[in-house]
Amino acid sequence: MDEQEKDRIREEFEASRSKGAEQQQAQQAQAPQQEGPAEGCVIKNVIGVVSGKGGVGKSLVTGILARELSRRGAKVGILDADVTGPSIPKMFGMSGCHAYAQDNLLVPLETKGGIKVMSANLVLENEDDPVLWRGPVVAGAIKQFWGQCAWGELDYLLVDMPPGTSDVALTVFQSLPVEGVVIVSSPQDLVQMVVGKAVKMANMMDVPVLGLVENMAYVTCPHCAEKIFPYGPSRLQETADHFDLVALGQLPIDPVLAAACDAGSFEQSVPDGLLPEAVQTVIQVAELTAALAGRDA
Ligand SMILES: Nc1ncnc2c1ncn2[C@@H]1O[C@H](COP(=O)(O)OP(=O)(O)OP(=O)(O)O)[C@@H](O)[C@H]1O
Ligand SMILES: [Mg+2]
Repeated sequence: MDEQEKDRIREEFEASRSKGAEQQQAQQAQAPQQEGPAEGCVIKNVIGVVSGKGGVGKSLVTGILARELSRRGAKVGILDADVTGPSIPKMFGMSGCHAYAQDNLLVPLETKGGIKVMSANLVLENEDDPVLWRGPVVAGAIKQFWGQCAWGELDYLLVDMPPGTSDVALTVFQSLPVEGVVIVSSPQDLVQMVVGKAVKMANMMDVPVLGLVENMAYVTCPHCAEKIFPYGPSRLQETADHFDLVALGQLPIDPVLAAACDAGSFEQSVPDGLLPEAVQTVIQVAELTAALAGRDA
């Protein structure tokens, strides 16, 4: 290869490298910018509830955290980011209810206990309608639920995430100031290390993982109250250690709770004091964030 040929290749390489850098800059400029909540709204802490796959109890854990924080006197909202499979309104007995708009803002509905809820089901004409929205429309809905919603003043906004690591999850992390996520897993997830997907997603999005909850870990015998582990001994602590996470507690398989979710009486039926470590962790993170920002928690 003569010198001329080498110079040509070098020039081409340099040109393609600077083009790549320009493209990268343009992509960064296009990346969604985080915007605040609607004017006049103050949302102190945004916490996400995620999982590596679907059906493991994210909505249930979101509901429990909301109920426990609210019971302690906090002002709590739930943003149901599971746009294509929303389950929060049904759990809280809001089936058939509709959110309305006021001054160009969506007004969240309040549960009997005063938890504010915004969900795709509350803006659909018919809650049984399938949500056949393309990605950008789903992303737009989530941004609207955050930025064009009259949340008022909230101590905690809990975000019930869609299952897995879809682009909707990315939209949430890019559009909302999520302070941390609680990962929910089933006993099978712990065996199959599905948890790793959720951990990696949070790491890639630079969002701290507050810890790991194991749902449906055991059954309590109705006769002798013995704990039965149908999936074998719990691997919660082992998995938490593996990923360097905090174990935030277990929930049993509870048919009463399942029936209450279906009947819309979750808020009235859920026993007090569930997942105390998870609740305490969320509160501590809020206090720490407030201290760092120099404001009251
Ligand atoms: N500990 C439990 N005991 C009994 N039933 C449970 C328990 N956890 C969840 N369920 C039931 O399992 C189903 C799935 O739970 P949930 O909707 O909370 O999961 P999810 O992770 O939010 O699901 P999705 O990924 O579809 O959003 C619901 O019908 C719920 O009532
Ligand atoms: Mg759900």
